[in-house]
Amino acid sequence: MDYFDVVVDLMRDERKPTDFEGHALEIIEFIDNERDTIRSAYKKAMGSKFRVKTFEQEIKKVRSAFSRSPSVFRKNLLRKIVTDESPDVELVLKGQYKEAFELLEDAEACQLTPMLIGPPGTGKTMLARSFASSHNKDFEWLTMDESTKPVHLMGSYDPAETLKRGFVIDAFVPGPLTKMMVQGGYFLANELNRATEFTQNSFLEPLEERTLNIPRLGRIKASDEFFMIAAANPSDMAGTHRISEALKDRIKIWITLDYPSRSVEMEIIKKNVPETNLSQDFLSMIYDVIDTTRKSREVERPASIRSAIAMAKLAGRKESRDSLELKDLKKIATKVLSGGIKPKPGIDAEALVKKIVDTSLRG
Ligand SMILES: Nc1ncnc2c1ncn2[C@@H]1O[C@H](COP(=O)(O)OP(=O)(O)O)[C@@H](O)[C@H]1O
Ligand SMILES: [Mg+2]
Repeated sequence: MDYFDVVVDLMRDERKPTDFEGHALEIIEFIDNERDTIRSAYKKAMGSKFRVKTFEQEIKKVRSAFSRSPSVFRKNLLRKIVTDESPDVELVLKGQYKEAFELLEDAEACQLTPMLIGPPGTGKTMLARSFASSHNKDFEWLTMDESTKPVHLMGSYDPAETLKRGFVIDAFVPGPLTKMMVQGGYFLANELNRATEFTQNSFLEPLEERTLNIPRLGRIKASDEFFMIAAANPSDMAGTHRISEALKDRIKIWITLDYPSRSVEMEIIKKNVPETNLSQDFLSMIYDVIDTTRKSREVERPASIRSAIAMAKLAGRKESRDSLELKDLKKIATKVLSGGIKPKPGIDAEALVKKIVDTSLRG
């Protein structure tokens, strides 16, 4: 099919998008790649009636007619399914991360279940994902909360299939835990202490016996390669349950992560904002602000690495567009910290952020 003619005709309302539904994705790609050539063709077809503005409007109209089509959504969806779970950013394997990584290796070798414990944003998820990808293992994870139920881990029978065919194996849709036990990969039970005790208890059998009882199917035995990593925020944090005593007894290596040292955190920031041209001085100032929130006695939940990364991104953008000055960095830090820290009860958030920014960024 000659997409030039089709697109130009569509722009001139001489054909209808619905007639080309089956080619929707190809037409979108064609529009994106051949814009200039389409413009010449359209110009030729329109003759003296050609207007740049109308060209822009018409081509946008055609493109969005196709991009809204359900078949394009389905194709895009299939393309976007993640097949590689390794993180986009490379892990900074230094200091506490190197130690933790080695402990994970020990845990796996001895078939002991490890638990990563640390405040939000200290790299627990990142470490587990990098550990799996560096061992070329399949990886599944589930972030838990109050509403997580055992079926979310184990899987369940598809109701429509079950109605048609009964509780057959084909009707069973496995959950992430079952998948990794059968396939032999790593499972990360993320924020395990947010799950209820009922849900936490569904790990008892897999961890103790390396088996899992699936109703109506039977008991499955985990592959030798199956390995589970748990992660949690320290239990004194709000909104979390405790790890149940029974489960505690089955987790054998407790690996604590804290906010990293200055040099490691600066390296993490740079790794996460690779395009940045920020000077070492500005990066250092960003660290100072973050570090002040961690030392302040008025802060309940200090700024995480994520806040530092956000500041570095915004500051880098400002620097590359015109220039970055101390007052700009102060503004950026204020915006990020407004929701990035939690003050102790009774302390005014706005005043606290201002105090932290003013004391740590004096130039
Ligand atoms: N050692 C590290 N190397 C590279 N990036 C890291 C490291 N630790 C943390 N990060 C970055 O910090 C952010 C928060 O990490 P994450 O693993 O999501 O924290 P947690 O799971 O503890 O809340 C992520 O953007 C991650 O890329
Ligand atoms: Mg996490």
